[in-house]
Order: sequence, then structure tokens, then C-alpha cells
Amino acid sequence: MTLLIVSSSRADQFAISVRAQDPTLDVRVAPELGDPADIRYALAWQPHPGLLQTLPNLRLIISIGAGVDHLLRDRELPPVRIARYVDPDLTQRMVAYVVLNVLYHHRRMCEFREQQSQKIWKYLPEPAADELRVGIMGLGVLGAACAPALGAFGYRLAAFSRTAKSLPGVSCYTGRAGLDAFLAATDILAVLLPLTAETRGILDRRLIRKLARGGGSGRLPGPVLINAGRGGLQRDADILACLNAGELYAASLDVFEAEPLPHSSPLWSHPRVVITPHIAAESTPTAIARYALEQIRRDANGEAIPHLVDRAQGY
Ligand code: NDP
Ligand code: OXD
Repeated sequence: MTLLIVSSSRADQFAISVRAQDPTLDVRVAPELGDPADIRYALAWQPHPGLLQTLPNLRLIISIGAGVDHLLRDRELPPVRIARYVDPDLTQRMVAYVVLNVLYHHRRMCEFREQQSQKIWKYLPEPAADELRVGIMGLGVLGAACAPALGAFGYRLAAFSRTAKSLPGVSCYTGRAGLDAFLAATDILAVLLPLTAETRGILDRRLIRKLARGGGSGRLPGPVLINAGRGGLQRDADILACLNAGELYAASLDVFEAEPLPHSSPLWSHPRVVITPHIAAESTPTAIARYALEQIRRDANGEAIPHLVDRAQGY
């Protein structure tokens, strides 16, 4: 049984972890394929387009990552099953990222940091948690896990997904009309969508302008955007324009149209933007190796593989 590891980063670390957990498995690291006919499984992150279709006996692709846009962009991807990565540690990291950033903007920390840099001691009003509406865009594994964690702080919750969902304590929306209603009921938008043909560029100025704008007492000065999904969902320039026009109060961005974010981007130095380098939820080599070996075991035993990608939907 042979596993090929093909990854644009940390490939050797993944190989060490897999070998440590199963010394009997034949593990190869691209570009050293050996005989391609031996390879049954591929553990992949951003594989070189065309590479996987050179493996005639490939049975399963295991994504190093919850998102699979890095695989589906390969126009020659062979028609084998793809298992995306779902893991409690990754989920918990994402929940922490979302809660951290919702709290950060709710408590107006960008402004307090600015005030601190100028030694300004000044009160700023903060809404009560139950006056703030947090909207989760993408109610899958990650979005659904964020809801109860945010609910524990008392926020009012809404969510938007492609198909109809129901979750206790969450107003759920779907469809085109549902999107407008969802945005109109959202002060802080937390985005956990996959990047697909339908979602590419969805976070543009038109959408941001539809977010709630309560004004008056008990509200933040404007809406907040948190994007931990994919950079391709957003238009960086639109976010900047919205911030500068006061159409957005603040943003936390973990992902960008181009990564690494170019030094020339004005987002880097914007006082109301929190930037992180695509680290919202890391997939650790140990957990990835454990996950991959479990999928291989399942396949070898003829068991169902969970979290298979629907290629037609793109996630
Ligand atoms: P899931 O596949 O479990 O959930 C995706 C959610 O998005 C589902 O609720 C789905 O709707 C919804 N969705 C998909 N397409 C649309 C659409 N066109 N309109 C509205 N809703 C849509 O994915 P995960 O929760 O596991 O992960 C989400 C994304 O998070 C990943 O694809 C990845 O891009 C990103 N990610 C980022 C990380 C980081 O470090 N920044 C780390 C891990 C993941 P439905 O429920 O109806 O199917
Ligand atoms: C993922 C990621 O998709 O880390 O898991 O971006």
C-alpha cells in the first residue's frame, strides 16, 4: 500500500508524522514518485496541476485542508474521490479565531489600540452582547461549531448557507432573498464559506453595503467583516474602499486575494484592520497524519469515507 505526499509546504513534516504513526506504510514524497502505478492514496495540498492524473491506480485523494479549492483548480484532476479534512483540533482553532475577533471588534479594540499609541484615556461606548447580531456565512462544520461558542457570550445569531439549515438559537437563511435578509440582520459578519464558482468574489462592496447599519445608541459605529474562509471570496480593494468610506467599521482578515499579502497593500497599515497570515485554523502534521491513516484504513476495509467532496458543488 503506497501513499504519496504532495504538498507545497511541510511535505517532509507530514511524511515524518505518517511514518511515525504507521511504519509499515510505503510513503513517498513528491516529486520522488518511484513507480506511479504503486500509488493508491495521495495526501495533497496545492499539488502541481496535472501531477495526480499521472497516477493510474489512485483510489483516494485526502486533502490537507478543509477547503478543497487548491485541488479542484487542477483541470486534469483524476475522477477519484476526495476526502476533505475535518478534525476537532482544527475546528476548535477556528472557533477560537472567530470568537477572538468578534470580541475584539465588539470591545472596540482597534480604537483602544490607537488611543494607547497616543496615550489617550478616553471612554468609548460598547454595545451589550445581546444588542449585537453576529452573522455566520457558511454553516458547515466550522460555522456550526462557532454558533454555540458565540451564543455563550450572549450574541444574537444568524447564519446563511446554500441549503436550508436549522440550529437552536440561530436564525437561518438561505437563497438569494435570504441573503439580503441575513445581511440586513448582521452587525458582525463572520465568513466561513468555501471558495467555489458561486462564492468567488461574493464579499464585494455591494454585499458589504447591505450589512446592518443601526447607528444610534447600543450599536458599533458600523458593520464588521471577519473573513477566515478564502481570499478568493473577497475583493480586497472593495473592503478598503468600504473602510475608508465608513461603510465598514473594522475588519479581521486571515485570507487574501493574493497570499502572502503584497507589501504594497494598504490593508497592512489600516488602523481598523487585523491581519493574520492564513493561520485561523492550522492543520498540524500529527493530526493530518492520523486523519490520512484513518481514511486509508477505512478504504482498505471497504468502509465508507466521511466528508467526501461534492465536485459539482465545489466543496
Ligand atoms: P463545510 O463544507 O462543512 O461548510 C461549508 C458551508 O458553506 C456550508 O454551510 C455550505 O452550505 C456553505 N456554502 C457553500 N456554498 C455556498 C453558497 N454558494 N452560498 C451559501 N452558502 C454556501 O466547510 P467547513 O466549515 O469545514 O470549512 C469552510 C471553509 O473554511 C473551507 O472551505 C476553507 O476554505 C475555510 N478554512 C479556512 C481555514 C483558515 O485557516 N483560514 C482553515 C480551515 C478552513 P450547505 O450547508 O448548504 O452545504
Ligand atoms: C484549510 C486551510 O482549508 O487551512 O484547512 O486553509
